[in-house]
Amino acid sequence: MQFNIEQIRKDTPACQNKLFLNSAGSSLMPAKVVAGIQQYLEEEAKLGGYKVADLQEHAINTFYQDVAKLINAESNQIAFAFSATEAYAKALSSLSFEAGDVILTSDDDYVSNQIHFISLQQRFKISIVRAKNLNSGDIDLEDLEKQIQKHHPKLVAITHVPTNSGLVQDAAGIGKICEKYDVLYLLDACQSVGQMVVDVQQIKCDFMSVTGRKYLRGPRGTGFLYVSDKLLKKGYAPLYIDLRGANWDSDNHYSMLENARRFESWELPYALLLGLKEAVAYANLIGLKDIEIYNQKISRHLRKRLSALSGVRLFDQGTRKCNIISLQKEGKSLEQIQAKLDAENVIYSTANRSSALLDFDKKGIDWVVRLSPHYFNTLEEIDQVVDIIDHI
Ligand SMILES: Cc1ncc(COP(=O)(O)O)c(C=O)c1O
Repeated sequence: MQFNIEQIRKDTPACQNKLFLNSAGSSLMPAKVVAGIQQYLEEEAKLGGYKVADLQEHAINTFYQDVAKLINAESNQIAFAFSATEAYAKALSSLSFEAGDVILTSDDDYVSNQIHFISLQQRFKISIVRAKNLNSGDIDLEDLEKQIQKHHPKLVAITHVPTNSGLVQDAAGIGKICEKYDVLYLLDACQSVGQMVVDVQQIKCDFMSVTGRKYLRGPRGTGFLYVSDKLLKKGYAPLYIDLRGANWDSDNHYSMLENARRFESWELPYALLLGLKEAVAYANLIGLKDIEIYNQKISRHLRKRLSALSGVRLFDQGTRKCNIISLQKEGKSLEQIQAKLDAENVIYSTANRSSALLDFDKKGIDWVVRLSPHYFNTLEEIDQVVDIIDHI
C-alpha cells in the first residue's frame, strides 16, 4: 500500500480531535483492531471462549506468520506474550544463572530489565557489568567488546530504544560482536518495533522482546518474544514452562514443543492476540520502511522547531535518533508544562528519574516531558504542539 496519510488518519478516527503524541506510552489502535477485538469478545459471550478459539484456529495461527513477516523471522520463532516485560522475563528465566555469571548491559537499558538483573544479582550472585557510552550517547562498541573479552558474559542484554530518550542503539553492530564471541544476545525492542524497520536476521539477536500497545498500535496486555532457531534447538525454555509448551508424558518427564510457543502460557487472551495480529498486519500493509521514513520526517521537524525555541532543552542523544523527544523548558516546572499541554488537549507522557536512573543522573535532571509522534501525526500537528510549548 502506498503511504497515504489521509487514509491512515481515516483508519484511526481517534487521532482527529486531539494532538496525540504518546505512541511510546500507549498508541492509538486503528479502528479495525478495536472492531476485531469487540467482535471476538461478542462471539465468546455467545459460545464460550473454548469453542470460539476452535473456530478461529486458522486466524490465530496467522498471528505468528504476520509477526514473523514484520521482523523477518519464521513463524516457529514467535511466542505471544502479555507484555514486553513478560516476554523478557521468560527469556531470562531460560538461562541457568550461577554465582559469578555476568550480564553485560548498558546504562540505557529499561528500568524493569535493570531490576531483573539486580534481582538475579541478589538471588544468584551474578554480576552486572555496564559497557561505557561514547560522548555521542551511543553505547561504545569497542568497550562492549573489551568487556566481553574480560568477563565472558553469559548474556549481553541491550535495549534498542530507551524509554526516556530518542537514542537508537546500533543493535546490528552489537549482534556482530556477540556472534564473534558466541555470547547470547537479548534485545529489548519494545520501543523500536512498529516505529522503524527491525530485522532479526540483520541484528542476529537470540531473543527479542516486544510490546503490542506502543508503536505497533495493538491493544494493551499484548506483546511477543522472538527466539532464534539456535536456542530452540538447544532446548532453551522458560523455567516455569506449562502445558502450553510441554507435554507431560511420564511420571517425571515432559517433552517440549519444538517451536517458540513453548515460551507461552496455556491461557491466552485470544481476542487481544487477534487484535495484535490486526495491528501487525496493518503495519505490514503500510510497510515499515515507509513508516520509518515518515517517522524520521516528523521527528526531525519536531526537534528542529523545538530547538529553535528559546528556553527549550532537548535531552535526546545518539548519532541515530527516533520518535521519542524528551524536553524541559527553562524556568517552567513539570506541573506548569503539564497544565498547558493538558489544557490544549495534547496527549503526551513524562519520564522521571527512577525510570532512567543512570541516564538522568548523568544529564543532571529528574524529569522530562516525553513527546512521541507516530506516522498518523501530520506536520501541521507537530507545528501546533511546538506553538503550544512556545506559549508556556
Ligand atoms: C524500552 C522499554 N522496554 C520495555 C518496556 C516494558 O514494556 P511492557 O510494559 O509492555 O512490559 C518499556 C515500556 O515503556 C520500554 O520503554
